[in-house]
Amino acid sequence: MCGIVGYIGHRDAYPIIIKGLERLEYRGYDSAGVALFDGTKINLTKTKGKVIDLKDKSAKENVIQGTLGIGHTRWATHGVPNDINAHPHYSNSGELVIIHNGIIENYASIKEALIKRGYSFKSDTDTEVLVNLIEDIKKKENVKLGKAVQIALNQVVGAYAIAVFDKSKPNEIVVAKLGSPLAIGVGDNEFFIASDASPFIEYTNNAIYLEDEEMAVVRIGREVKVRKIKGDKIVTPYIQELQLNLEQIEKGGYEHFMLKEIYEQPNAIKDTYRGRLQSRDNFVKMSGIEDNLRKFTNANRIIIVACGTSWHAGLVAEYIFETIATVPVEVEYASEFRYRNPIINSQDVVIAISQSGETADTLAAIKLAKEKGAFVFGVCNVVGSSIARETHAGAYTHAGPEIGVASTKAFTTQITVLTLLALKLGKANGTLSNSEFNKYLLELESIPEKVEKTLLTDEHVKYIASIFKDAANFLYLGRGYNFPVALEGALKLKEISYIHAEGYPAAEMKHGPIALIDEQMPVVVIATKKGHYEKIISNIQEIKSRKGKIIAVVTQGDTQVKKLADHTIEVPETIEPLTPLLTTIPLQLLSYHIAVMRGCNVDQPRNLAKSVTVE
Ligand code: F6R
Repeated sequence: MCGIVGYIGHRDAYPIIIKGLERLEYRGYDSAGVALFDGTKINLTKTKGKVIDLKDKSAKENVIQGTLGIGHTRWATHGVPNDINAHPHYSNSGELVIIHNGIIENYASIKEALIKRGYSFKSDTDTEVLVNLIEDIKKKENVKLGKAVQIALNQVVGAYAIAVFDKSKPNEIVVAKLGSPLAIGVGDNEFFIASDASPFIEYTNNAIYLEDEEMAVVRIGREVKVRKIKGDKIVTPYIQELQLNLEQIEKGGYEHFMLKEIYEQPNAIKDTYRGRLQSRDNFVKMSGIEDNLRKFTNANRIIIVACGTSWHAGLVAEYIFETIATVPVEVEYASEFRYRNPIINSQDVVIAISQSGETADTLAAIKLAKEKGAFVFGVCNVVGSSIARETHAGAYTHAGPEIGVASTKAFTTQITVLTLLALKLGKANGTLSNSEFNKYLLELESIPEKVEKTLLTDEHVKYIASIFKDAANFLYLGRGYNFPVALEGALKLKEISYIHAEGYPAAEMKHGPIALIDEQMPVVVIATKKGHYEKIISNIQEIKSRKGKIIAVVTQGDTQVKKLADHTIEVPETIEPLTPLLTTIPLQLLSYHIAVMRGCNVDQPRNLAKSVTVE
């Protein structure tokens, strides 16, 4: 939530910041702003709307000069999206400017105290409170900016990634992090600051990822100085070499990132199992669990915590683990888990799934599980993310950057990693014979090609989308492994097209949702040959007799469902646990095309953000 970018060096900061903000727009896009130091004064421009609106405004005001600057794209938490609440924010004197991603929870009491000391506030934001607190401390204690930031951050409760600079010291930017990501790109006597590395990847491959409760003074002519916010300990920064390349974060000829990412799935799945799956040797190698296999094989149960689409991947994994590895599994919304008193102990293994690796609720659930003694394993996409670092061990999905706000390739690659993990356990537990194990490996290896084939349904799915694009509601039904796929299909549709959609286990339909069915109601049913096929056919008949419109995802060559459904979409045959990797594809395409036809902003749907770093 919210993207921050900063630059200090010898280049013009403005184009770097603007391009960086465009790349970070997935993190929030209700307002944007930039502050540049032009050699004598700070020029600050901000506006409600997107980075493109900021560009227009900056061009009109011609305030784009300077080799030091900070910029922000916002997802509102405190205060509605408008010009005033947009970042950056000045301190009262106009000497300090700040950008902030996160929430200062105790801002109200600090604000009250500052008002008593004569401070006034233009915006409703917690961020303006923070910059004035820093200013107040700086003056009162007569300390430098870095020290003032440190003292201030010891007084605040909440989450933050901040960048702040002082007009009177335009050779440095002070940054700090707790709970929200912050990377420093290290160039040749120039530095980049950003929520992730995408804004600076064409300038440098070297990055420092600040850890929680760390701050840094980024100063021209000097190495980056990192210290702990509490206790003042100096930390030697680890400069990481990035693997990211520019092509991965651009649209590559597709109209939207979401479509590009849907089409990337065959390769993304391959990248996920590459080097891990060795069908010839009948072996799965996952460095993240080799050393910890005992923890898994001795575990009483596995608890999966996640949010949104990642939670749906967790639900699919529940079926997979129970079948392949015969381990009891519970799947929890991280946001609920963290506020219950979950009964867990050192015999439990917790798997946290997160594309971004930054989701605040998932991170808090991990911390709670660790406190209670559980072994925590992370499944993340973003390398070096907070969750990847907070967990005891883990496996990356290697899907490459997912920029479209609606998660697509993250889902299928999470299922792929979790299948590998289940296979590894199944083999270690002795629940899978060598031949069964090998059957799974071979079938998993065939999935990328089957996804390619499934993608060939695109035009047909687009045609179906054109028929149903104006529907007010959708119902999605599936059973077994494809029940979570129904949930995921409904989530995809609602988040990008704003059509109300619900996912249900097909058999639950009779217990309520059936009342909704009439000739206006499209019902998407996942009815592949594997998985309670006859039962699903009965459910389809129940819908048909109530005049619902049936869109069925079926196995290639199906004849029975075809006779009943209004529209069918064929996917290649595979073994039952792997069907979600195929059946989810047409549902992604359906929601994509419906959203495009309705004129919705597919990559940046309203009110959403890619990385939910606030609870
Ligand atoms: C849906 C979507 C969200 C995320 C959720 C968790 O398309 O993108 O529901 O899945 O916010 O995010 P991560 O996986 O980053 O923890």
